[in-house]
Amino acid sequence: MNHPKHFLSLADIPASQLRAILDEAHRRKAARSDMSKGRPDVDAPFSGETLAMIFEKSSTRTRFSFDMAMRQLGGTSITATSNDMQLGRGETVEDTAKVLSRYVDGIMLRANSHQTIVELAQNSSVPVINGLTDYNHPCQIMADLLTLEEKGGQLSDMTLTWVGDGNNVAVSFVNAAVKFGYRLRISTPKGYEVLGQSISAARNAGAAIDIESDPLKACEGTDVVIADTFVSMGDKNGDQRLADLAPYEVTDALMEAAAKSALFLHCLPAHRGEEVSAKVIDGPQSVVFDEAENRLHAQKAIITWCFDV
Ligand code: CP
Ligand code: NVA
Repeated sequence: MNHPKHFLSLADIPASQLRAILDEAHRRKAARSDMSKGRPDVDAPFSGETLAMIFEKSSTRTRFSFDMAMRQLGGTSITATSNDMQLGRGETVEDTAKVLSRYVDGIMLRANSHQTIVELAQNSSVPVINGLTDYNHPCQIMADLLTLEEKGGQLSDMTLTWVGDGNNVAVSFVNAAVKFGYRLRISTPKGYEVLGQSISAARNAGAAIDIESDPLKACEGTDVVIADTFVSMGDKNGDQRLADLAPYEVTDALMEAAAKSALFLHCLPAHRGEEVSAKVIDGPQSVVFDEAENRLHAQKAIITWCFDV
């Protein structure tokens, strides 16, 4: 079997390769700045290459940005929910991987369990890209870092502060910290901490990660404040979570504690009045729609890296 390049976790990919992916994303975005969205890139490196996209849970950004990414690269995509597939009726992940590898050039999966994507990759002879699992969301963080660089920041000079639930998106910020050299502060309430294993692995690799349970202190002087939903897909006890996490809503008070030029990030979808106030997310420091757009540009570079173009 081939050894395809999978994109499953930022922790697994060398820093130099992640840097090259971000550079390629900047380059491709700039190269088509005056083109309409549906036109392929001038070099359109793929001639009909096809990405299968499988969703075990809902998506707006991941679904549309990967589809447009393939079109702009000169390829195409096929989308299915797992319930449209025999996978939803008990066909094994292993057999699914072997069959799809005979039809398509790559597979993007949004999975409930991270174990599913690991198993898919182990049995696939084409690249597998992680479109979010319960453990992490690596494509999102590449888009977020692209956005911060575009706004003029040098990542290695920046402090980023995560406020709220220590969820899958937070894990990918932890995984990327040592790769890009930013300092990460994490502020979560008791019971909602980021996976300890991810933090110790990142620290052992040299990442600068500070834990500060007081969100106001965690935001003091920071360059970036990051929020995400308090109830992720698949989470139970939504009402309890909202109550426990309410003191971690990003409001003006937290943004005022941050650096004057601080930016606000959120991967979306957002819940105004829960994890972030409407004033902050719709205010001048928020770059959430640039982030959403950059999913497209970052993923084009991720796909070309995986497909070795
Ligand atoms: N941020 C993100 O992954 O959005 P979707 O769930 O809409 O894909
Ligand atoms: N943490 C959120 C991210 C959605 C893009 C979730 O997993 O639902």
